[in-house]
Amino acid sequence: MRRIPEETIDAIRNQADIVDVVSHYVQLKKQGRNYIGLCPFHGEKTPSFSVSAEKQIFHCFGCGKGGNVFRFLMEHDNLTFVEAVQKVAEMTHMDIELPEIQSQSDAPVTKESSETHQMIEMHQLTAKLYHYLLMETEEGSAALAYLKERGMSEEMMTAFQIGFAPNHHATISSFLEKRGMELELAVTAGLLTKRESGEIVDRFRGRIMFPITNDRGQLVGFSGRLYEQRDGPKYLNSPETPIFNKRKLLYHFSEGRQAIRKKEEILLLEGFMDVITATEADLENGIASMGTSLTEEHIELIRRITNRAVICYDGDNAGIEAAFKAGTLIQDRSRMEVFVVQLPGGKDPDEFIKANGADKFREIYQHERMSWTAFTLQFLRRGKNLQNETEQLQYLDEAVTVIARLGQAVEREIYLKQLAEEFSLSMETLKEELQSAVRKVQHAKKASARLGAERNVPVDDPFMGMLPPEIPFSGMDFGSESSAMVQAPLQFHKPAQKLEAHTFSEQQLMKAMLESRDAFAQIQQLLGDLSFYHDDFQALFTYLISFYLEDHDADIQRFMDFLPDDQTSLKNLVASLEMMDAPDEQGLHEYQAYILSLKKFKLENKIKQLEQDQHTHIRNQENEQALKVTAEILLLRKKLASHDYDLEE
Ligand code: UTP
Ligand code: MN
Repeated sequence: MRRIPEETIDAIRNQADIVDVVSHYVQLKKQGRNYIGLCPFHGEKTPSFSVSAEKQIFHCFGCGKGGNVFRFLMEHDNLTFVEAVQKVAEMTHMDIELPEIQSQSDAPVTKESSETHQMIEMHQLTAKLYHYLLMETEEGSAALAYLKERGMSEEMMTAFQIGFAPNHHATISSFLEKRGMELELAVTAGLLTKRESGEIVDRFRGRIMFPITNDRGQLVGFSGRLYEQRDGPKYLNSPETPIFNKRKLLYHFSEGRQAIRKKEEILLLEGFMDVITATEADLENGIASMGTSLTEEHIELIRRITNRAVICYDGDNAGIEAAFKAGTLIQDRSRMEVFVVQLPGGKDPDEFIKANGADKFREIYQHERMSWTAFTLQFLRRGKNLQNETEQLQYLDEAVTVIARLGQAVEREIYLKQLAEEFSLSMETLKEELQSAVRKVQHAKKASARLGAERNVPVDDPFMGMLPPEIPFSGMDFGSESSAMVQAPLQFHKPAQKLEAHTFSEQQLMKAMLESRDAFAQIQQLLGDLSFYHDDFQALFTYLISFYLEDHDADIQRFMDFLPDDQTSLKNLVASLEMMDAPDEQGLHEYQAYILSLKKFKLENKIKQLEQDQHTHIRNQENEQALKVTAEILLLRKKLASHDYDLEE
């Protein structure tokens, strides 16, 4: 199946920088020798995902996922190995002849179901046709004129693949049919609709078409806007389909990702036109939801690539309400910093830019954005008559509560001062109010923390994927000598865990064998018939033997790819071992000690097992067997005492 020559894969792997590639998807921060960030594979609030530039691997201490750059893309974008290699080559702009994998007859074996692939392909074909119809045909000329009239440049039309769906019922259905596509599947994909008569017709008719991609850049839907007086909704979206889920989709998210990362902030807009006009005004970090309010899923996507959101919704009442709602949810669900830009005159960004120019918009965006607190304080005044004493008190109460939530004393001071000045109150009075509000907030926080702790136990086991779950980290006692615990080789922010000696030994042996062919040879010999206690380690060992048999030098990166694609837990294990620190100099002497501790552990286990047998025999009054077992136990105990741990199997 792998049709890319190994040298090419090596070249791509060597050229690529995993930090660079992962940075496309995860906001990474340098910490010590590694980079850390929020894991894209499981929900978490404190980062346990780490990337090593030195070793070119990633590993999550939270969920245990790990591997090299190809593995990352396979997991993240649900790609096959070959697709991941191609993507890395593209991302690193390598001029390498790669096999064409998109050809019909020889389609790649993808993890994604072929139906999903077909649905995406249908969208791609359809978008091309729509775009062509808009730009090049007589039929599309009125729609094109409308867009030009609104000030959209042809450059933007091309960049956003804007299109035109003619007012016929069979443009797309016959187009797809001619290309041998399954029309029923196109109905499922939302491109066509089935009438009650059973007739299959185009869903979008007489509309300007906006193609919509998912967070991986795959075309999964459309929104179509009316451009002339007609009945029907202004925008018609694709229906919810297996590939189109509005709760998770953000317009221009995938395309804007680079700019969002570069600017270190995302610009949240309400409409498609706003996104396009902002892009034309050189603000390429704009995105919009699909006519629904911002969801938790959207925030989950956003917070992985940036820490700051600037909300710029329509300047009308509905826009302000929506901004408050969105900002509140972001504050609740993430640690992002939120700003709000309010446009004068109730305009939306598109209208504002058209009326006042891009410079003016950028100016307001940069310099007149309001902090979340300032916006909230302003928001709370809406609809209140502050001349009225009761309403004024109510406002002050709400405002002080907002201020009490602020983390920094300076911030609190600034906003309190504003209140004091505006309402001619003394700072002393306000500070007293603040004190009691702070107490209330803390109380509420504690209560909700307690609730949270009861509700969800976080998956925060730093050894997940490393140890079979049935093995506890401590509490196993095989006699006083054996319970010697060794400090786990995890530096990091996690609380230090104690590891059992045999687990530590297996980790160190495996790590040494992965990193050096000589160590592998030595250890293999020392092990003899001894097998690893943890099944994962034994499996890894077996793969390592065949890897080295193929005359490879030690190479973690290659070994990762050598492991079969479906052995993800082994790949995770390799990454986690690589992320551990090993004692500086290890050699034969250390290996012998590790192996000795494994043998000892085995011997102790054997004794335990025999003792159980012994009990059973005694209970069943099987005297002869009981005696035999007792003799064996005595023999093994003697071996243990004289440090002779070799067991004859
Ligand atoms: P707006 O009504 O503000 O439209 O809806 P707009 O983006 O400013 O578009 P123009 O300038 O009138 O062309 C904001 C967003 O709400 C969704 C769309 O995503 C739109 O961009 N919407 C609006 C719908 O999904 N359906 C509708 O009927 C209207
Ligand atoms: Mn508009």
